[in-house]
Amino acid sequence: MVVRELEPSIYSVGAIDWDRRLFDELIPLPDGTSYNAYLIRGGEKTALLDTVDPTKEHELLANLEKLGVKKIDYVISHHAEQDHSGVLPAILKSYPDARIVTNSKCKSMLMDLLLIPDDKFITVNDRETVGLGDKTLEFIYAPWVHWPETMFTYLREDKILFTCDFFGSHLATSDLFVKDEAEVYRTAKRYYAEIMMPFRTVIRKNLEKIKKLDMKIIAPSHGPVYDKPEFILNAYRDWTSDEVKNEVVIPYISMHGSTKRMVDYFAGALMERAITVKPFNLTKTDIGELAMALVDTATIVIASPTVLVGPHPNIVYATYLVNALRPKLKFASIIGSYGWGGKMVEQIKGILTNLKVEILAPVVVKGYPKEEDFKSLENLADEILNKHKEHNIVKE
Ligand code: FEO
Repeated sequence: MVVRELEPSIYSVGAIDWDRRLFDELIPLPDGTSYNAYLIRGGEKTALLDTVDPTKEHELLANLEKLGVKKIDYVISHHAEQDHSGVLPAILKSYPDARIVTNSKCKSMLMDLLLIPDDKFITVNDRETVGLGDKTLEFIYAPWVHWPETMFTYLREDKILFTCDFFGSHLATSDLFVKDEAEVYRTAKRYYAEIMMPFRTVIRKNLEKIKKLDMKIIAPSHGPVYDKPEFILNAYRDWTSDEVKNEVVIPYISMHGSTKRMVDYFAGALMERAITVKPFNLTKTDIGELAMALVDTATIVIASPTVLVGPHPNIVYATYLVNALRPKLKFASIIGSYGWGGKMVEQIKGILTNLKVEILAPVVVKGYPKEEDFKSLENLADEILNKHKEHNIVKE
């Protein structure tokens, strides 16, 4: 339990979750996370911006008590997901005069998810404001980062943009503001990859929408606060741009060593062509590492053995995730091995329906790879290099 002052009369009252290792029962959290909530004391009114995960209810309530908060007028809800909204019912119970301020879509979701009654809400439109006396909250609709109801609050007088999930990082740290930029860059990129990447196009629109705001601070609801907003704005501009890097990501599984031999040989062939290679053994890798590598890579080569008649189930899972995350890939291919036949290639291709990629000729071999198979892998490496050159991914 910790209360810290961001600026005079603006407090961080959320909770750090040092121990959490899985989010949505899907996303690995190697660095823990935080659920940031903020309290703003205006001259006349007090606002709480978001709450915390239900597991941390006692911490938020204790933080408010520590600050001596007797009355909350407004609870701003930027996003209905429970890691930020889950303690709204408890807040309404402890502070019965409080009203939830949000957009109509978020209101409807909060009524569905948390059974909050209609009369507890004040709905606001895009760019509408609510005054706290000497402070003005301006609400900015920012849908699809990463649910349809997401919005931001701009605190005009203090030039702070509160963005909830957007620009967040799953990082448990005692730093209120970003201190270790390399660490935050890595965790924010992982967060972007896992949560935001499928919405790359809409994110660009949202970045455009906030471009003209005079921002001194960006305060997300996961991870440390940005007192140099350009740091995270530039990172997002880069990640959401159409630029890809001269890289090949290789998620792979090998049961008896044939596919592994191919991956090792192929990785070497790519490196000899000065292409960055990122192989991920799916029995050992954290799926977030794979997602992060997909943010920039030009090409993916999926490497699988044949199980029964199709790809290994872990490859199916990873391919499904790649397709769902919609990275800005340009090229894809498949390599691997089989014993007596099957439809591994067709099945992998059949999953990648969301991606606008050119599929390069797969290399699938019977049993352990032989001389001619290594030659085919060399040819695939040549083709990737040529494609990267043609698309200006390799600067000559
Ligand atoms: Fe941090 Fe989408 O919730």
